[in-house]
This record gives sequence, structure tokens and C-alpha cells, in this order.
Amino acid sequence: MKTLLTTTAIILGAVSAQAQTVGFSQIGSESGWRAAETTLTRQQAEERGIDLRFSDAQQRQENQIAAIRSFVAQGVDAILLAPVVATGWDSVLEEAAEAEIPVVLLDRRVDSSDDLYLTAVGSDLVHEGEVAGQWLADEVGDEECRIVELEGTTGSSPAIDRATGFRNAIEGHDNLEIVRSQTGDFTRTGGKEVMESFLQAESGNEICALYAHNDDMALGAIQAINEAGMNPGEDILIVSIDAVPDIFQAIANGDANATVELTPNMAGPAFDALEAYWESGTEPEKFIQTDSALYTQDDDPMAEYEARKDLGY
Ligand code: AHR
Repeated sequence: MKTLLTTTAIILGAVSAQAQTVGFSQIGSESGWRAAETTLTRQQAEERGIDLRFSDAQQRQENQIAAIRSFVAQGVDAILLAPVVATGWDSVLEEAAEAEIPVVLLDRRVDSSDDLYLTAVGSDLVHEGEVAGQWLADEVGDEECRIVELEGTTGSSPAIDRATGFRNAIEGHDNLEIVRSQTGDFTRTGGKEVMESFLQAESGNEICALYAHNDDMALGAIQAINEAGMNPGEDILIVSIDAVPDIFQAIANGDANATVELTPNMAGPAFDALEAYWESGTEPEKFIQTDSALYTQDDDPMAEYEARKDLGY
């Protein structure tokens, strides 16, 4: 694979004056974060004179596989893939490798061998869950706390790893217990519906905190909690992941408590790596890691909202 990719790089280096063509297989538009990632990828491509061919998979892996095959048939110079789930990619990644087309993974990981892609850009997804869990453990101290969890898309690497990280952080805190856990598929409506069912199932029992694998599900859950006549952020503590503008408004209003940032600018580092590779065959590290900063009510949430509100979320 390395030899194939290096040969490609040398050939592409010789034609680097031409606009490079990059196929982007995006998952869909399930969340505000995903919309911002799409916007920033388009912007980054335009600024760099890259011809971006965009395909929206509408949450279906088979659509992503078909898009990758189509990009291979078109002979693109690289493929960006945000993989909806972690498994089932070997064959199509082998086809791209056979065609000597470098693939860069964005924001989610796959279970395939890392020989089958050039690099992966993203955060440490386990660490994100640990940051969220540690915030909650610190916040509640020794108090008993029954937690409900809204999981991301089943089988996706962020759903798997954010669940693991959160459990790592609360392990050994016997006062913290996850009492319900269900997927809300990373969507606002999913978060609202599942939170409604949690509230109904737990009526009479106190829910002390919600951990949502993304902000959109937390925002849906906030609606459900309000409609149930409770105060989100007070009666039920809320910690989630992404740092989208709307969650900062919710934090500023006291409806949410904390979020862990995932930058939507995955394309910047991805195109930097590809440009170096096209130019000189430079192989990037297999994982280009982005930061996972924690934001709470102490971090001037309205300033954070203002800083993000025009970024395409
Ligand atoms: O893979 C990243 C996750 O996917 C984001 O946290 C979520 O909002 C998105 O849908």
C-alpha cells in the first residue's frame, strides 16, 4: 500500500499545477456540528483551489460505499471519508488503494487496518467521554447521582468511544450510576424523544444528570425536560460534546452546564496533509489529533456563541 501511495504522490507531484480533485463522502446532516464540518470543508477546498465532489450519504453506509466506488471510477486525486459506522470498510478501502487513491478519514474511525488509509483527522473520542465524565464527577462530589445517557449512532466510533471514556471517568465513584442508556442517533429529535421516554420510565425516581454524546441530542432533551415542567441545568445537570453555538446559548441561559469541544474544521489538517503528500510524497502521521477543551458556565458562554455563530452550524 505504501509503495502504491508513494508512486501516486510522485505522479501527482508532477501535475501539481493542476487543480486537484477530492471526493468527500459525508455522513449526512444529522447535527449542527455535521453541517459546520460540511461548510468548512467546502470553504477550505475553495480557498485552496481544490475541486471538491460532495456526496451526502443520508446516514447509510451503503451510500458511502457507492460514493467511494464512484470517486474511484472518476479517478479523483484523494477521498475524504467521514465513516458513519466503524466496521465494514475493508473491501472498498482496498479498492481505493488498488486505484492508488489516498483516503483521509474525518472525525470518525474505522476498524480496518491503517494501511488502507493515508491518515485520520479527529479527536481522541475516548478522551472526550473522559472529560465529560470527569466534569460530572467533580461537579456532584459525594452526592448520589443517577445518570441517563443519550448515545450516538449505534456502531459509530464516537458512540462506542464516548461511552467508554465516560465510564472510565466515573469508575470507582460508587455514588454515580448510569441508570438508562439509549441511542438518539445524534439528532435533536432523537434526543427529545428518548429523553421523554427516560422521564416517563423514571417518573418518581430522581434523574440527577444527563450525558449526551452530542449537543444536538442534549438540546432536544432540554426541550423534553422543559415540557415535563422541570428545569434543565438545575434539576438535571447536562453535559454533552461538540460545542455548537446553540449549546452555548443554553449554557448562558442556565439550561445546560458543560460541553466538550470538537472542532468542525477537520478539512484544514486533512488538506494540509494531502497537499504535502501530493507535493513531495510526505506521509503524515496515521492520526492527526484535534483538541477536546471543556467549556462550562464559567467560560463566558455568550462570547463563545458569538465566536461560532457564523461558522455554518
Ligand atoms: O463524529 C462526530 C459526531 O458526529 C459529532 O459529535 C456529532 O454531532 C456528529 O453527528
